[in-house]
Amino acid sequence: MNPLNHVAIIMDGNGRWGLKHKNSRNAGHKAGLLTVEKIIEETIKNKIRFLTLFAFSTENWKRPKKEINYLFNLLENFLLKKIKELNNKNIKLKIIGFKKFSKKLNHLLNISEKKTSRNTKLQINLALNYGSRFELLHAIKGLSKKKEKINIQNIEKNLLTKNIPDPDLLIRTGNTRRLSNFLLWQLAYSEIYFDKKLWPDFNQKDYSKIIKKFKNTKRNYGNI
Ligand code: IPE
Ligand code: IPE
Ligand code: MG
Repeated sequence: MNPLNHVAIIMDGNGRWGLKHKNSRNAGHKAGLLTVEKIIEETIKNKIRFLTLFAFSTENWKRPKKEINYLFNLLENFLLKKIKELNNKNIKLKIIGFKKFSKKLNHLLNISEKKTSRNTKLQINLALNYGSRFELLHAIKGLSKKKEKINIQNIEKNLLTKNIPDPDLLIRTGNTRRLSNFLLWQLAYSEIYFDKKLWPDFNQKDYSKIIKKFKNTKRNYGNI
């Protein structure tokens, strides 16, 4: 059985779910947040140490302002309401992405990270304004500026995921089979599962099934 240390999730399908059920994409984002809470619980139950959630990509700025504002409001309210609870559950929150938000949100993200920084049960990496190409470019530019050797180890040290092991398992919901600029370097040897369900419909049972399949997959890493 494979050990499972790190799960990464592309939480896709909120907009379609919202349109279908409530005639509003934003209603789908709201419903998707409930799935996030359920999946965090299940991750803890499975004793998984790292959970990385793709919440907003560097390309998602192309969306209408109304949707972007709604998403960041949702995040702000979630943190204000839940950070204490996350902290009590011994969960560490880390933002991976470039923190270029409103002053208020940047501050809230920073204090949420700081407050939970010593927690040890589960580390949640929230990918916010995250894009893999930009991350790699930033890392390589940083190395060249510092006149450090460009090698695998040094690149990894300069990624936003520094000190985080690579995901063992990537799940994308929403019936779409692509990576959308997510963790391109880090997913080199991850097992990938695409689920047809839209994120708000994805549940603990679906998650457990994937985990079970993952645990019984032979991982070769180029070997036989
Ligand atoms: C993913 O759901 C969540 C974010 C990108 C914030 P979408 O909003 O992409 O939902 P669909 O893919 O349009 O249904
Ligand atoms: C990926 O979903 C980003 C997040 C889940 C945050 P998108 O819905 O933005 O991806 P594309 O545009 O369909 O590739
Ligand atoms: Mg989408």
